[in-house]
Amino acid sequence: MPLFTRQHDLIARAATALLAVGVLSGAAAYAYFSHPLVIDVGYQPHQPVPYSHKLHAGNLGMDCYYCHNTVEKAAHAAVPPTETCMNCHVRVKPESPLLAPVRASYKTGQPVEWVKIHKVPDYVFFNHSAHVNAGVSCVSCHGRVDQMIEVKQVQPLSMGWCVDCHRNPAAKIRPTELVTNLAWTPDRDPAEIGRELIAQKKIAPPVNCSGCHR
Ligand code: HEC
Ligand code: HEC
Ligand code: HEC
Ligand code: HEC
Ligand code: HEC
Repeated sequence: MPLFTRQHDLIARAATALLAVGVLSGAAAYAYFSHPLVIDVGYQPHQPVPYSHKLHAGNLGMDCYYCHNTVEKAAHAAVPPTETCMNCHVRVKPESPLLAPVRASYKTGQPVEWVKIHKVPDYVFFNHSAHVNAGVSCVSCHGRVDQMIEVKQVQPLSMGWCVDCHRNPAAKIRPTELVTNLAWTPDRDPAEIGRELIAQKKIAPPVNCSGCHR
């Protein structure tokens, strides 16, 4: 993959340059790289089925894990297979024209072609389960998905954004059982709760280059 090679080369050269020049402090390097290079905030493509998180996760109160059931265990969160939808939709609105692509998929075995919204480049290592198990809520990175009719990207997913939290994650760490409770508001300083959990679980997000570029 040429892109992969090019980006790796770029990272290698950038790293060498930083070492060779030696005048760029960590802070300066960080400021330089933290400028969001790709701004995808607001990306909200139309989907083949008008599936609404506001209805299913918000009004009906379905837990994120019901559909994104690999998010605690795997690097990728995975969009649910058609069978998950048909658990209900064989009975609920079985004739709805809005669900025609889902029924077709169920019949043919061809997955629904959901349009992917959030992406980091291939040369960046990202792992959902590491974040979820440390107690970082979906809301910190995806916003109030339970209030979205169509999912929209609300965070830049830039290097600066990742590193900002890695340097000072306390306010974003909560007990793991509250990760999918997007509306949760703590009754005391969230950073205090976070600091306790960080000490207990020895949480230490990587800030070195090789932590995210492997
Ligand atoms: C009934 C199943 C279902 C539930 C429950 C559900 N989702 Fe989803 N989710 C989907 C489907 C289907 C898609 C792909 C279509 C879309 O983007 O709307 C999706 C897409 C997403 C995406 C965008 C993925 C991308 O392409 O980048 C995010 C983020 C997301 N869900 C987060 C959540 C969160 C957070 C919750 C809990 C509040 C949740 N979901 C609950 C079915 C579900
Ligand atoms: C736990 C049950 C359940 C699951 C699982 C579920 N839904 Fe639904 N869905 C509902 C209910 C309830 C409604 C609202 C029906 C109504 O308005 O009477 C609904 C409504 C819809 C509608 C609107 C239909 C219309 O004609 O107004 C669409 C589209 C839809 N769901 C898509 C999906 C997709 C895609 C999935 C899988 C990712 C899914 N649903 C999974 C229960 C579910
Ligand atoms: C620390 C930030 C962060 C947290 C916390 C987080 N996500 Fe994500 N999510 C991302 C990033 C970054 C991507 C793009 C990943 C990629 O391109 O490999 C993504 C992608 C996704 C996708 C698209 C499929 C995939 O894996 O690429 C879904 C679905 C999703 N997230 C759901 C969730 C749910 C549900 C939660 C909470 C249980 C959650 N995310 C928590 C940052 C996060
Ligand atoms: C809101 C805070 C937050 C954001 C935003 C965030 N992270 Fe993290 N990250 C964490 C925490 C907390 C951990 C867990 C550290 C631990 O358990 O020791 C972590 C761990 C990691 C790890 C180590 C996981 C492993 O398996 O070794 C990598 C790599 C990582 N994050 C990459 C990223 C990338 C890339 C982004 C941006 C796309 C990002 N993170 C955004 C908080 C965050
Ligand atoms: C916490 C995770 C994280 C750490 C630590 C990190 N990066 Fe990155 N880096 C990213 C992400 C995410 C992107 C992709 C940014 C985007 O798409 O906007 C990126 C992109 C890059 C790029 C490509 C920029 C471009 O032109 O596309 C370079 C070069 C780079 N990083 C070098 C470094 C160096 C050198 C370090 C150490 C000083 C470092 N990174 C540490 C997450 C990280």
